[in-house]
Amino acid sequence: MEAIILSGGLGTRLRPLTYARPKPLLPIANRPMLAHLLDRLPEAVDRAVLAAGYRIDDIRAWVDENPHRVDVTVVEEEEPLGTGGAIKNVEDEITGPFLCFNGDVIANPPLEEMIELREETDALGVLALWEVDEPEHFGVVDLDRDRIRRFVEKPDPGQAPSSLVNAGTYCFHEDVLDWIEPGRKVSLEREIFPELLETREGLRGLPFEGHWVDCGRPDVYLDAHEILLEGETLVADTATLDGEGSDWACLGEDARVSAGARLSRSVLLEGAEVEAGAHLENTIVGAGARVGKDAHLVDTVVADGLTVEAGSDLDGARVGGGKQTPPEEARFEEVR
Ligand code: GTP
Repeated sequence: MEAIILSGGLGTRLRPLTYARPKPLLPIANRPMLAHLLDRLPEAVDRAVLAAGYRIDDIRAWVDENPHRVDVTVVEEEEPLGTGGAIKNVEDEITGPFLCFNGDVIANPPLEEMIELREETDALGVLALWEVDEPEHFGVVDLDRDRIRRFVEKPDPGQAPSSLVNAGTYCFHEDVLDWIEPGRKVSLEREIFPELLETREGLRGLPFEGHWVDCGRPDVYLDAHEILLEGETLVADTATLDGEGSDWACLGEDARVSAGARLSRSVLLEGAEVEAGAHLENTIVGAGARVGKDAHLVDTVVADGLTVEAGSDLDGARVGGGKQTPPEEARFEEVR
């Protein structure tokens, strides 16, 4: 059985980190998102097909340099085809029913049960469903036992038919590919799913519990760390933490935090450095970047290789592209 992993998005909401590497290769708890996903594939899957479109050479290099339990094939998309078009583009690789994943979701959906439910019902698709606190911000699923009745996009407060949302993980029958027009941009969620509801066996949904984080924004990227690290600090073997970590922090290979620096809910990618007296909160420091002495960074993202001047005071900034983005232009919440 194949698993398609959608890995071709530009990851604009995680810029500037995604200027230097594709989102599926950004580490969560010091392992690329893609590695977490490949680890989770059930026994039934023997081949992963990566639908790649952005920084493909980085993805190929990572696949070649690391061992995997399953065979991994990287398929190139010449221009972004959207979530549906990307699946159609890898049609030649598919030999039967298959799993499909958004490449930026850290979660524990019940993959075996999804495969079984699809077989039992003969539906074209089964969606993993996740319960959220504020359904008005999401596309909500109206579920009748395991059959999806309809999708309601961003319902008015109090009007949502349920709190269940599409978790970005699917099991499909291969015939689903016949529903997608080739060679054009197609959204699985907006164009194909509504049509599949009308088929005889419809679309099925399977709610699950545990954890689910769509790591598309800096704040949720940090949340994913909090969940996987269970609030503990993770320091890679070759990293040095001489300063303090409160709540939790994550230090990648060769990262270095000097004595007298303080980190809280913050991630340092490989080779990042934080100098004495600096204080970081809810902050991500890119690979090889440096935060100078006594700098104070809150809700900030620093691009790979940049330096934040000593004594800087940044709140909600994206430091990238060779200059420091003023906070008023770069609040997390203003990023979709
Ligand atoms: P943003 O630009 O920040 O919205 O991120 P994104 O481009 O990754 O989009 P989004 O988070 O909506 O994508 C969900 C998943 O689908 C991610 O794993 C993307 O890599 C993937 N994806 C989105 N669009 C495409 C596409 O056109 N082609 C392929 N192959 N994958 C895509």
